[in-house]
Amino acid sequence: MNDCIRFILNGEDVSLKNVRPTETLLDYLRLQRRLTGTKEGCAEGDCGACTVLVGRLVDGKLYYESVNACIRFIGSLNATHVVTVEHLAAKNGALHPVQQAMVDCHGSQCGFCTPGFVMSLYGLWLSNDKPSRADIEKALQGNLCRCTGYEPIVKAAEQVARTRPSTLFDPLEKTRSDIIARLWAMKNTGTITIVSGDDRLIVPGSLDALARVLAAEPTATVVAGSTDVGLWVTKQMRALNPVVFINHLSELQGITTGEGGLTIGAGVTYTRAFAAISAKMPTLGRLIDRIGGEQVRNMGTIGGNIANGSPIGDSPPPLIALGATVKLRSAEGTRMLRLEDFFIDYGKQDRRPGEFVESIFVPYPAEDTRFAVYKITKRRDEDITAVLGAFYLTLDDQGDVNDIRIAFGGMAGTPKRARAVENELMGKPWTEDTIAAARDAFDSDYQPLSDWRATAEYRQLTAKNLLTRFYLETTGAPAELRRFEEVA
Ligand SMILES: Cc1cc2nc3c(=O)[nH]c(=O)nc-3n(C[C@H](O)[C@H](O)[C@H](O)COP(=O)(O)OP(=O)(O)OC[C@H]3O[C@@H](n4cnc5c(N)ncnc54)[C@H](O)[C@@H]3O)c2cc1C
Ligand code: FES
Ligand code: FES
Repeated sequence: MNDCIRFILNGEDVSLKNVRPTETLLDYLRLQRRLTGTKEGCAEGDCGACTVLVGRLVDGKLYYESVNACIRFIGSLNATHVVTVEHLAAKNGALHPVQQAMVDCHGSQCGFCTPGFVMSLYGLWLSNDKPSRADIEKALQGNLCRCTGYEPIVKAAEQVARTRPSTLFDPLEKTRSDIIARLWAMKNTGTITIVSGDDRLIVPGSLDALARVLAAEPTATVVAGSTDVGLWVTKQMRALNPVVFINHLSELQGITTGEGGLTIGAGVTYTRAFAAISAKMPTLGRLIDRIGGEQVRNMGTIGGNIANGSPIGDSPPPLIALGATVKLRSAEGTRMLRLEDFFIDYGKQDRRPGEFVESIFVPYPAEDTRFAVYKITKRRDEDITAVLGAFYLTLDDQGDVNDIRIAFGGMAGTPKRARAVENELMGKPWTEDTIAAARDAFDSDYQPLSDWRATAEYRQLTAKNLLTRFYLETTGAPAELRRFEEVA
């Protein structure tokens, strides 16, 4: 069965032989299956109207996560369980408790966003027994409503949290062991190749197979979480061919906590990386909460955030400041390089034909390190960075700067270190005068652009002010500055 994508849709086994490489789950659901409860709002992962759950086996256990069907490709669904809003109500029409709570709490007006909210709430309900207000707001970050307002929907989440999942009425609890067995049977250790006309879609069975595929097809588009690539298709109408899917590869999903640091597989999603990163580096953990909405974090990977080479990707600046290294792999073997050396120029990375990102190693900061990340955006949730600064500092016994690494996104064509500022600070006493003298060095490090997110002047001033803020926070910030801590 190496010529089809197989998954479970609600209760039914599906096997698709004729799949275009960029066919989205949303189009399949709405146009081919007439499952029109899943809506199309923005088609770019922002509004959540298209939210469905995707269940997959991780270490033998079945996890369901909310995802955006609009930017999820069918080719990424092999051996998964896709659950749409149509699956929730009982056959006799009785609403699922999540749906009933939305009715009871008046959580819907025009109803366009409602199925998406229901699915996000359902994902939360399945995974969290006692969600706090913050958990609820986090789970709903990726769902927008134009008419109801959010308070009734949050109330619905609080109401349903009092009714726990039960095999009596929950369709996924009732069938859990059966679904696990069916997904095991669908797992494929061989490589799936689907040819439709000139198009080719490839799902390699292992990391070695991926290396072989990319050696033969060095210009193929690799797709992990598709939270970038999805938009190339839905917004830029790009034709991609061939497409190689890697999100299922367990060899890219490992998180290893070693003595010196954390090794994160390139295919680890933000959601999965969160706990491990937060335990060791809470500041970096808090940043993950500000990347996209829950659906994007359930799909998007750290490897994708690095490999896309974006100057405004959120993870590269803090990882550079922490001294991370990236492991690249091809059919010829592996090589390691410092993450900061991976980014050569705008749109250009040190990635040879046929190479892919295998993992990232993040050294733990020493006990006495001061480390901070500041993401500056127009709104707090689900917004793309205008400027992001990461600071890593150690002081010697005299209070002089012993080591400093500063890296910024949004200030140049790549994520980039502020070398001139660092040189100004190295060996100097960590004082207000040193900071004041170093601020101007940002003008030699960066010549940022103006765009719709921020002007060049705003960016430059923000970078300087973030250095000052870091100084104040590391030396005991006054209360009025500390209130910004939660948005950092
Ligand atoms: C609504 C929304 C909000 C977002 N918000 C943020 C945000 O706040 N901050 C942020 O930084 N980003 C944000 N993004 C962008 C995106 O989520 C991230 O860049 C994400 O990390 C990309 O990972 P992915 O797995 O989805 O990559 P894909 O879309 O699958 O791939 C991205 C690129 O990386 C390549 N690639 C992926 N994996 C590998 C690999 N292992 N080896 C080689 N090449 C690879 C692909 O070929 C492609 O060029 C947002 C996206 C959306 C849709
Ligand atoms: S349609 Fe808006 S997130 Fe998918
Ligand atoms: S109820 Fe109308 S958009 Fe939410």
